[in-house]
Amino acid sequence: MDEVKTRIAERENALLGDEILARIDELGKISETPEHLTRVFLSKEHRAAADLILGWMRDAGMRAHLDAIGNVCGRYEGERPGLPCLMLGSHYDTVRDAGKWDGPLGLITAIVCVADLNKRGKRLPFAIEVTGFADEEGVRFASTLLGSRAVAGTFDDSVLGTSDRAGVSMRDALMTFGLDPGHIGAAARTRRELHAYLELHIEQGPVLEENNLPVGVVTAIAGATRLAANLTGMAGHAGTVPMALRRDALAGAAESIVAIEEFCRADQGGLVGTVGTINAMPGATNVIPGQVSFTIDIRAAADAHRKLAVTELVRQIEAIAKRRKLALQVDVTHENRTVPCALWLKAQVADAIAGEGFRVFELPSGAGHDGMAMIDIVDVAMVFVRCRGGVSHHPDEHVDRADADAGARVLLRLIENFTPRDAVG
Ligand code: GLV
Ligand code: MN
Ligand code: MN
Repeated sequence: MDEVKTRIAERENALLGDEILARIDELGKISETPEHLTRVFLSKEHRAAADLILGWMRDAGMRAHLDAIGNVCGRYEGERPGLPCLMLGSHYDTVRDAGKWDGPLGLITAIVCVADLNKRGKRLPFAIEVTGFADEEGVRFASTLLGSRAVAGTFDDSVLGTSDRAGVSMRDALMTFGLDPGHIGAAARTRRELHAYLELHIEQGPVLEENNLPVGVVTAIAGATRLAANLTGMAGHAGTVPMALRRDALAGAAESIVAIEEFCRADQGGLVGTVGTINAMPGATNVIPGQVSFTIDIRAAADAHRKLAVTELVRQIEAIAKRRKLALQVDVTHENRTVPCALWLKAQVADAIAGEGFRVFELPSGAGHDGMAMIDIVDVAMVFVRCRGGVSHHPDEHVDRADADAGARVLLRLIENFTPRDAVG
């Protein structure tokens, strides 16, 4: 009974939650534009954020450095130096016009938990590493999960030559950031160094809120395919070319986008499809668009289902292009299989949630996370924290202080009771 009272009193004080909120606000101010939060991979603001996070890690008792892709890496030694680690983390890049919580909540909560251990002088039979992944969103260049792929040793060097909207190559952007593109291989870690990868993240959907719960156990991260589509027709005069003779690439893209939406809406298996960017050329009111590029993001819980859907959608877009006499090119820019969270780790997440007095509730993640890349070298698990209205990738994204605090308590309990797989009975 006394223990319960103490826990409730602590929760009312919500000290970890207060600290998390203050840091979320501080990091959220580092943005490329003052009126919107945008902090894309390797921008000047991304660098300023990395420096702020490095300072927080050092204050929390960690050794900290930037690795070769721009991940912010902190290490808190265990009972003796050099032990394998439990890796915690999330990303510090954002989408455009983002919320403050997607990524930073997990990263800041991990740092706050380590700071708490450090304050108490507590060392564990394993090290803790906290990684702020440099690129999870894949907003600036066509590829994504660049930070966690570098750590997992699966970074594809061919993406270094890709350019952003302004024509800056990833190679040049890395150098401007102060990094050597020739050393990305040095960011890779080995299986022997890691016990597990554990990420706390906002849910980005409404399920926890519907169930009146602050936290949940993630079962799996849904696979995704991203495509870049390019339609080429014929530019021409908006006043002189008769409608029947036009090869309007933008009209072809519009028809394709509606076909994607209708196909996904009709699906019964939870398929989702999004066209999030489109660019029409030459881009003048009085010129028929001759060339259009757009992106397609397709996700589903089952890999086979997603793959079949992608094949069918490409077939439909090909048919639209053919009928409209447009040339079509479709490239896969990103493909990730569905990643299951490890059973042995999920059980420990559930124990920590129950230990904090919350009902254990499992849910899948429709959003992508760095665990999708980390799975290639280590088992992964995730804790979700409720966010208001399920709103994310939007400036209205919000987490209540009490929920941030609940997430931190769960994570701290999980860390302190963590048992590596080979020691699980
Ligand atoms: C990242 O947030 C994604 O799911 O695309
Ligand atoms: Mn995220
Ligand atoms: Mn995101």
